[in-house]
Amino acid sequence: MEVIIKGDYNGISKEAAAYIADFLYHKPNAVLGLATGSTPLGLYKELIRLHADEGLDFSKVITFNLDEYVGLPPSHDQSYHFFMWQNLFSHVNINPENVHIPNGMAKNVTVFCSWYEEEIEAYGGIDIQVLGIGTDGHIAFNEPASSLGSRTRLKTLTQQTIDDNARFFKNAEEVPRYAITMGVGTIMEARTCILLASGESKADTVAKAIEGPVTSMVSASALQLHPNAIFVLDEPAASALELHDYYRWVYENKPRES
Ligand code: PGA
Repeated sequence: MEVIIKGDYNGISKEAAAYIADFLYHKPNAVLGLATGSTPLGLYKELIRLHADEGLDFSKVITFNLDEYVGLPPSHDQSYHFFMWQNLFSHVNINPENVHIPNGMAKNVTVFCSWYEEEIEAYGGIDIQVLGIGTDGHIAFNEPASSLGSRTRLKTLTQQTIDDNARFFKNAEEVPRYAITMGVGTIMEARTCILLASGESKADTVAKAIEGPVTSMVSASALQLHPNAIFVLDEPAASALELHDYYRWVYENKPRES
């Protein structure tokens, strides 16, 4: 695992965007796994800036989003469809046919989830998966006790997640109870995983994910078993890490390619 600690939120957004942009310059038809939530907003802003100012090209990029609320149509302003178009896709030259987001209105969720898995495979798998982390340790909506081998499926949200996400709705009652989410096993097949975390409220969870035991109770801890997982943290999110100074030293003294 690589742990990159930056001073602030702007720093983590720029670091993740630079990594993705560099990858896209080498592989313009890359398959990106994308996340929603407040954490990746800065990353998406920076990708939009790179598109506008430096011509970063999304025309051949394929995307797969991690999750979607069940019961919210794409037009709902809290759906993840709406979020992705509002915060990234409408501002870059992505081909709408290359965008994949779980269908929260699917009539047969099981059939839809199998199709989604097959579609990821048909595109050759995910090159870079962007992740946030919930205060309950989830990646995507893989709530505590999700199997570390789980695939795309229906998941019931925990009260913690409902309370965390209530800030986006009128009240907690309006937050959907169910979501379609990629599984931990699905995410672990991405060739690179980049997990972003910001703020002190994530510090204890981040420490559990990086330095605690691998456990389904903190699904992000599965990334300890991933061959290319990168945690990009701001100082407050990194503040509970036992080996904080070591990670900083390793990053600052990393041999750079010329
Ligand atoms: P946040 O959500 O980015 O809004 O903190 C992260 C998550 O729940 O995965």
